[in-house]
Amino acid sequence: MDFYDLIRGRESIRNYDPERPVDRDTLDRILEAGRLAPSAVNFQPWRFLLISSPEMLEKVRPCYGRPWFADAPHILIVVGNRDQAWVRKTDDYNFIETDLTIALDHMILAAEFEGVATCWIGAFDPDLLREVLSLAQNEIVYSLTPLGYPKEGFTKKGNKKRKPLDEIVEYL
Ligand SMILES: Cc1cc2nc3c(=O)[nH]c(=O)nc-3n(C[C@H](O)[C@H](O)[C@H](O)COP(=O)(O)O)c2cc1C
Repeated sequence: MDFYDLIRGRESIRNYDPERPVDRDTLDRILEAGRLAPSAVNFQPWRFLLISSPEMLEKVRPCYGRPWFADAPHILIVVGNRDQAWVRKTDDYNFIETDLTIALDHMILAAEFEGVATCWIGAFDPDLLREVLSLAQNEIVYSLTPLGYPKEGFTKKGNKKRKPLDEIVEYL
């Protein structure tokens, strides 16, 4: 697939077929894209938690109470360790969110390449997940996405609402 077609074609999917899990090889290729993502000083301060078992799905789903979210057969959660991320000396800026964003974006684009639907979720309950996932004190739940296939008959919207380039770009 052409890279720019992939970028144009990706959209947040809020429709999942609970009866159609993603096969293990496909999931592994998506996770590998996250593993290969760049990070500041190559510190890789992340863990990728792939939730697929009925027991864990039941515990994780209440972190985001939309009915469509409960249909997803997999939930990919990106967790990071703030103490393992690079901190810029000049202003103490910690790159944890930057690194985790890149990793998740790599995996979302890989999923798109595989024909697997995603939706970046930020509005989840972090305290619930922290508890359910037994995170260490210095770990944060950063973001998550469902992984799966839309129900039969679903079609993408295909209309990206974005600011025009001339509003956001300056050639200086
Ligand atoms: C950091 C971030 C957080 C988001 N959180 C949510 C969310 O909690 N729930 C949701 O339905 N969509 C969420 N989205 C999806 C955005 O609404 C979506 O990316 C945006 O409207 C553009 O649409 P598109 O992804 O289909 O191109 C989030 C996206 C990003 C990048």
